[in-house]
Amino acid sequence: MKKRRKVTTRTLQRQKKQKEPIAMITAYDYPSAKLAEQAGADMILVGDSLGMVVLGYDSTIPVTLDDMVHHTKAVTRGAKYAMVVADLPFATAHFSKDEVLRSAARLMQEAGAYAVKLEGGTEIVENVRALTAAGIPVVSHLGLTPQSVNQLGGYLIQGKDVSGAEKLLAEAKLLEEAGACALVLECVPEELARLISESLAIPTIGIGAGRFCDGQVLVFHDLLQIGSDWSPSFAKTYAQVGQIMQQAIAEYVTEVKERRFPEEKHVTHLSQETLATLYGAREEQEYDHRRNNPSVV
Ligand code: KIV
Repeated sequence: MKKRRKVTTRTLQRQKKQKEPIAMITAYDYPSAKLAEQAGADMILVGDSLGMVVLGYDSTIPVTLDDMVHHTKAVTRGAKYAMVVADLPFATAHFSKDEVLRSAARLMQEAGAYAVKLEGGTEIVENVRALTAAGIPVVSHLGLTPQSVNQLGGYLIQGKDVSGAEKLLAEAKLLEEAGACALVLECVPEELARLISESLAIPTIGIGAGRFCDGQVLVFHDLLQIGSDWSPSFAKTYAQVGQIMQQAIAEYVTEVKERRFPEEKHVTHLSQETLATLYGAREEQEYDHRRNNPSVV
């Protein structure tokens, strides 16, 4: 079996060159990171989609840097080989260079992220340059940038007309030139994603961006249909895990109510000696009786 190696920025460059697709998935805690890692994902994104799929907000805007640090810590404990990329949350990418550096440093130093992801193009390109100059690998994010949902007017496909497409292509090149090591393209037409992917030396990772990106990313909860009956049309549900979880929990609740759980195999007993000391012989018999008849109160 091929020895597994840690995925680095060099791995991504090689994968791009050799046309080896990059598989990325989001994760927000230790067990999901472990599952992604064991499944062979190259990259794990601690996305600020955290806000919507784990924390129950209706957008990513309320997610804070502290939230990102907390969840990234759990993910990095579960991922030894996959490259862990953590999102800089709402507005952070637009702060002063010093503040962006400080935020990224927290995600790397405190939480153990390998790289950070920033939404945005021209307006944040100097921050991307500053981060990469400081030795921080940056994954850029263009197209539908969910942190700007209020300004975009909804979760809409981007780059559909000539000027929109040209703008995205130009921004992708700018971000690459500023040092980004990869680019997430979200909700853009397939042809545009293909053109951008063919124009860049860094890999593109698509979500709702068609078949010609250098890699793909899906949100953990969409892929497994956990927590919602709905997922975006571009996402594929590989297993109805949420349904299985809910059935299992319902079975547990029923068994508790019907006193079928716990069973004898789930319990520990005191030794006869200890019992005798604690209860005395008569109470011991009574205890045995109660134990064998759990419905007796
Ligand atoms: O936050 C996130 O999960 C993301 C992906 C949708 C790319 O940014």
